[in-house]
Amino acid sequence: MQKKSFVLIFTLFAITGCSVNHQETSTEVENKVKQLLASMSLEEKVGQMTQIDFIAVAVPEEQHAENPVDLAKLEDAILKHHVGSILNTPYTPNNKAQSVETWQKILETVQAVAAKTRLKIPVIYGIDAIHGATYTKNSVLFPQAISMAATFNPDLSFKEGEITARELRVSGLQWNFSPVMDIGRQPLWPRLWETYGEDVHLATILGTSFIKGHQGDDFSAQNKALTCLKHYVGYGFPINGKDRTPAWIGERMLREYFLPTFEAGIKAGSPTIMVNSAEVDGIPGHANYHYLTTILRDELGFTGFTVSDWADIQRLYTRDKLAASEKEAVKIAVMAGIDMSMVPFDFSFYNLLIELVKSGEVPLSRIDEAVSRILGVKFKAGLFEPNAPVLPEEKSVQRAEDVEVNRQAARESIILAKNTNNTLPLKKESSVLVTGPTANLLSVMNGGWTITWQGDDESLYPQDKLTVLEAIQKKSTGNVTFVGGNSFNDPIDIQKAVEEAKNHDTIVLCLGEKPYTETVGNIGSLELDQAQINLAKAMIATGKPVILVTLGGRPRIITAIAEQVSGVVLGFLPGMEGGSAIADILYGDYNPDGKLPVTYPRETNGITPYDYKPIESFEQNTYNPLYPFGHGLSYTTFQTSGLHLEKDKINNGESINITVTVKNTGSLTGKETVLLYVNDVAASVTRPNKQLKAFKKIELNPGQTENLSFTLTPHDLSFIGVDLKRIVEPGDFKVMVGNETANFSVTK
Ligand code: BGC
Repeated sequence: MQKKSFVLIFTLFAITGCSVNHQETSTEVENKVKQLLASMSLEEKVGQMTQIDFIAVAVPEEQHAENPVDLAKLEDAILKHHVGSILNTPYTPNNKAQSVETWQKILETVQAVAAKTRLKIPVIYGIDAIHGATYTKNSVLFPQAISMAATFNPDLSFKEGEITARELRVSGLQWNFSPVMDIGRQPLWPRLWETYGEDVHLATILGTSFIKGHQGDDFSAQNKALTCLKHYVGYGFPINGKDRTPAWIGERMLREYFLPTFEAGIKAGSPTIMVNSAEVDGIPGHANYHYLTTILRDELGFTGFTVSDWADIQRLYTRDKLAASEKEAVKIAVMAGIDMSMVPFDFSFYNLLIELVKSGEVPLSRIDEAVSRILGVKFKAGLFEPNAPVLPEEKSVQRAEDVEVNRQAARESIILAKNTNNTLPLKKESSVLVTGPTANLLSVMNGGWTITWQGDDESLYPQDKLTVLEAIQKKSTGNVTFVGGNSFNDPIDIQKAVEEAKNHDTIVLCLGEKPYTETVGNIGSLELDQAQINLAKAMIATGKPVILVTLGGRPRIITAIAEQVSGVVLGFLPGMEGGSAIADILYGDYNPDGKLPVTYPRETNGITPYDYKPIESFEQNTYNPLYPFGHGLSYTTFQTSGLHLEKDKINNGESINITVTVKNTGSLTGKETVLLYVNDVAASVTRPNKQLKAFKKIELNPGQTENLSFTLTPHDLSFIGVDLKRIVEPGDFKVMVGNETANFSVTK
C-alpha cells in the first residue's frame, strides 16, 4: 500500500528531460541542471535557496493530526514561494520523533505539492539524524559521536552510517545533517559529544567511514541517504566554552586542526555542508567569503551546496551587528557563498533576495550558481526519479541484526579507566548497591537529539531498553538495591544509601550529566554539582569498594573521586544499548576495549590536548590530565614490541613502512587498538610533541601475537609552514608506538 503510493508520487516527477539514471556522469547532471535552470524564473530560483522549518507548514500541535501537514500553508510555501527545502520534525521548541507511517505521509504530501509546481522540482527534506534516525520512533540509536570515536573502530562507524541511512529512507527521509566534523578540543563546549573528539586523524577516519556507510557509492540508492558536514568551520573551539561564541583561530591553526576533517568529508563524497553558527577571528561563519568561497570552492574543490545554520543569516543583523538591516545580511551571506538559507519560519529571505537581485545588488550569476549546486544535488540524489524510493513493507526499523551492531558499538565505546586490584569484573552472585542520578535513566546515555531535540523527555524513551540499573538487575544473581530518584534532579537520600551500603559487597556509583543540546548545555565549570560530590564522598567513606560509572557528553571533573574508588568506567553517551553494554563490562561478559578520544582533564582549566606543543610542557607547564587521550584498560594485557622502520632515511616525498608486534600477554581474549604517533623533531613552525597518524584495532586470544604494518605517507609528515602552505621539512622524525620509539630522517 505504502509502496504503491510512493511509486505514484514519484511518477509525477518523471517530467521530460528531468529523470536521470542512477549512475549518470557529472556532465549528464550538469546538462540536466542547465536545461532546468534555463526555464526557471527568478522567483523559482530563489525559492530553491529557501529552507523552512516544518512548523511553518504544520497544523497546530493540539490537533494531534495523523498527518500534521497544513495543506494550505504548504501550498503557500511551495506553490507561491517556490520553497525548495524543508527541515525538522514537528513540533518546536523540543521537536518529537514521528512514526514511520507519519513520516511517510508527511513526505508524500510534501512531494505531491512539489509535483504540482510548474517545473515539478522535488523538495529536499533535511533532518538531524546524528546517532541514528533520531526523529523516527523506535529507530536504532547509536552511541553519540564522542562514544563512536572511543570505539576506535571505523567498521562500526560505517555500519552506523548504513543503518541510519536505511532507517531514514524507510521513513521517506533522505538528507541527514550529520556527521559533525568539528574537532572537539574545548571540553566545556556543550557540543563536544557531537564530535569525534580532539584528534584530527581519529575524527577523519571515523567521520569518513560514517559517510561511506551512509551514502555508499551512490547516495540515490534505495537504502542510502545524503550526509551534511557541519559546522564549517572552526565552530568547535569557542574560547569561553559557551556554544555560539567567538573562536580565535589563526589561519595556520585552522588549516592544521579544523579544515582537514572537512576536506576528508568532501573527498568522501558528502554533497552538502552546514555553516558555522558562530564566528572566527571577528568574522561570522555566514559572512566569511574567505572560508566559504576561497577555501571551500577554489582550494578544496567542493561542488555541492552550503546551507546556513538555524536563522544565522538573520543573525548577521539581529545578533552580530555585522549588517545594518536584514536585507544587507542576506546580501552579505549570499555573496560570501551561502547557497541555501535555513530561514527558518518565514519568507523574509525569499522576499529580500528577490529585491536584491532586482536592484542589481546581488548578481543573477550568483543565484544561478547557488541554484545549480542545489539542483545538481537533487538530481544526484535521485529525487527526480520516477521509481524511487521503494519502501520495504516488512517491519523495518530496529531489525535484530542492527540492534546487535548497536550493542557491539556501545560495548566498544565504554572506557575502563581504572581497575585497582582487579575489582572488576564483578561476580554475578555478589550483592550490589546501585546509586546516583545517572543509574536509572535512558536519557543520560543518549544525550541530545534523541527522540526530542534536547533528548530529555524520559517518558518518550522505549520501554524495552535497559538503564544501567536494569541491566545490572538482569545480569546479577545477587542482591541488587537501588537508592536514587526518578529523574536526574531528584534529591538522593544519602543516609539511606550509606545504610544500604553496609549490606552490600560493592557500590556502583553512577554520576554525570543530564542531556542537553546546543546553548542549553552551557556551563561555567567542568566541576560536578555539589549533590553528586556529596553522594560520592559518602559512598567512599563507607569503605566498601566503589565502582564509579560516568555518563554524559563532557569529561566532568572526577579527580578526587577517581583517586579513591576501586574502578572507573567512563561511559560518555553510549546510546540505547548503553545500559546493557555497561553491565556486560561490569560483569566481564565483554572485555572492555574503548579508548579515550579526548584528554580527560584533572581540573577544570586543565584543558591541554594530548598533541600539545613543547611550550605546554616546559618549566612549570605540564600535560597532567587525569587520563590521557588513548587511555583505556582491558581485563587482559597487551604488549607491543619490535617497533621497526623499513629505513632510517627516506627522500622527501617518499612513504615509509613501519612494523610492530602485538601480543596478548594476559589470560582473556580481547581487542587492542595500537596507536602510532609521529613527532617532527625540529621544524620552522612549532610542532606537537606527538600526533596520531595511524591506528589499528585487532582481536587477540591469550598468548596470540600479530604483526602489524603501517605506512606513513608524506602527508602524515607534513605541516602548515610559515607561508601557510603544507610542507614536509627535511630532518629527523620520531615514531612512537606503545612504549617504544624509533627515528628516521627525511633528506632533501
Ligand atoms: C544546529 C544544527 C542543526 C540545525 C537544524 C541548529 O541549531 O546548530 O546542528 O543541524 O539546528 O536542526
